[in-house]
Amino acid sequence: MSKILDGKALSAIVKDEVKAEVAEIVARGGRVPCLCVIIVGENPASQVYVRNKVKAAEYTGMESRLVALPEGVSEDELLAQIRALNEDASVDGILVQLPLPKHIDEEKVIDAISPAKDVDGFHPSNVAGLWLGKDCILPCTPAGVMRLLDSTGVDLCGKTAVVVGRSNIVGKPVAKLLLDRNATIVIAHSRTADLSAVCRQADVLVAAVGRAGLITGDMVKPGAIVIDVGINRLPDGRLCGDVDFASCSEVAGWITPVPGGVGPMTIALLMKNTLRCYQKRIS
Ligand code: GUN
Repeated sequence: MSKILDGKALSAIVKDEVKAEVAEIVARGGRVPCLCVIIVGENPASQVYVRNKVKAAEYTGMESRLVALPEGVSEDELLAQIRALNEDASVDGILVQLPLPKHIDEEKVIDAISPAKDVDGFHPSNVAGLWLGKDCILPCTPAGVMRLLDSTGVDLCGKTAVVVGRSNIVGKPVAKLLLDRNATIVIAHSRTADLSAVCRQADVLVAAVGRAGLITGDMVKPGAIVIDVGINRLPDGRLCGDVDFASCSEVAGWITPVPGGVGPMTIALLMKNTLRCYQKRIS
């Protein structure tokens, strides 16, 4: 039976680190850091995520602003909102919840956010910074995955890490962060031949494809660290990861649950990023 990597407990520690720093800023008479979250439309999953982000910001003592725009808002109006927030000296972080309605070009929206306020780490200049090894804002989910891996105390140097999924938000950046720790990286995807055999090589297996229960126990190397980034909604309404927890937890050394694994870490690292943007802006 594997050890559980408790993202809920670790995220509470990370949020408390941010809370302590915010309290110190306030005690020194500093301006309170401010996160602005923009949501377009009424996607129920996005509404839950956004509510949790705002709640987390409030918990840490930061100011949070929620801008809720109607589904039919034009791309120009959204871009104008972002430009206004870029210019607003009291705002440190800007997050536009994805996905956006089809009539809005996500790439244009991400490009419009000032890189200095890009708490998601999605702007091309932050992405370039990640790949060039510069000091930049890292995307929240990959940074949260690394913090979970660090909590195991396992040295990743020389280990084989298999990342299943090649998205810009998770798969590619998490692979780069693992590479930075001198792990040997395989990025697997929907066209990978014999996915089971590839996954069985992994000392660290990160699943980020959005397919419920894709990774089963027979695909896991005994003792491996298994990180489940998937959040899939089953027909009965339950949440389920990309990893079949029941079979994989019999084989893995460490495993993240869903819910309560990577999800809360994403939000905690968003708080870290907001504080970091604040600190960079005032220095
Ligand atoms: N939608 C799903 N994940 C994310 C995320 O990390 N950031 C934003 N902005 N939207 C998302």
